[in-house]
Amino acid sequence: MAGPLALAAPQLIDLHPPAADMRRLVVSGMERQPRQLPAWLLYDDEGSRLFDAICRQPEYGLTRTETALLEQRAPELAQALGPGVLVEFGAGSARKVSPLLEALQPDAYVALDISAAHLLQACRALQQRHPTTPVLGIGCDYSQLERLPAHPWLEQRRLGFYPGSSIGNFSPEEAVTLLRQFRKLLGPDSRLLIGIDQPKAVERLEAAYNDQAGYSAAFALNLLNRLNRDLEGDFRLEAFRYHAWWQAESSRIAMALISRKPQTVTLAGQRWTFAAGEALITEYSVKYTPDAFGQLAQRAGWRSLQRWSDAQGDLSLHLLEPDDGRSSEADLEPDSGQQHSDR
Ligand code: AVJ
Repeated sequence: MAGPLALAAPQLIDLHPPAADMRRLVVSGMERQPRQLPAWLLYDDEGSRLFDAICRQPEYGLTRTETALLEQRAPELAQALGPGVLVEFGAGSARKVSPLLEALQPDAYVALDISAAHLLQACRALQQRHPTTPVLGIGCDYSQLERLPAHPWLEQRRLGFYPGSSIGNFSPEEAVTLLRQFRKLLGPDSRLLIGIDQPKAVERLEAAYNDQAGYSAAFALNLLNRLNRDLEGDFRLEAFRYHAWWQAESSRIAMALISRKPQTVTLAGQRWTFAAGEALITEYSVKYTPDAFGQLAQRAGWRSLQRWSDAQGDLSLHLLEPDDGRSSEADLEPDSGQQHSDR
């Protein structure tokens, strides 16, 4: 008979986005003005490793602040979430969920991430720390996912977890679409716990995305390696420099690779010309005040139940529940004008 140790192996379902999709998305991103590629492309194995290094840089406080908040508030968060299966969107290395798993003791933990190989490693490490929690990894682009795959562990009340302010990679309009999708994926009587980075002093924001050690730059430049490898590109990394800056009018950090000179590159079977100084946007990171985020969530059919902030007001955790009293027409209103409220 299999003993308890034999149970302590994570399961993995890989729904990898088709390569043709990637080609199409990259070509349409290269045709935009300014050029902009989907942020999930940054997370190949090397990119996932570099992102973990960014999270450890002294200038990048987001991860430390959120981790501390999750640790401090774990019992309250668990109580407010209630029973169910915990579903994390964009789990990456799944380094944030441990305090929640301990306090919540969910029926299962399901981690979704674009990088399946990295995800499997993360699930294995996590399973070691939480041997009695069933762990399931799903390799997918959660922003494109229509429904969660059929699996017995998912036939419970679903508790979504979306930490790290990852929603900042989406434009506010896309973020509303994503939050609606989460509502669909999580189903009725669900909850969503989401971490949101707040606007703060420009110097701090810009330093966080231009770290001295150069991991932010390496992370962005690695995208060119990936394009060279996966879409027959011939980018020369030395011909681009990385830069990140605050765009106050959009409440976001823009991260870009700037062409050092006029040049032509080949990618996905096409030729692309860059002017000197032309930007290729690798990501945006939109920052929301707690009220602005509450309104965004409301437009997507979520109601704010509770929120928590660190003492400095750098970051907020929001607990949301489906707002089923609202019609889908109301959901489509670009600006509902309704007040955000916490209970
Ligand atoms: C994972 C999107 C939350 O915007 O802070 C950090 C990504 N990129 N430094 C962020 C990122 C470069 C990060 N998110």
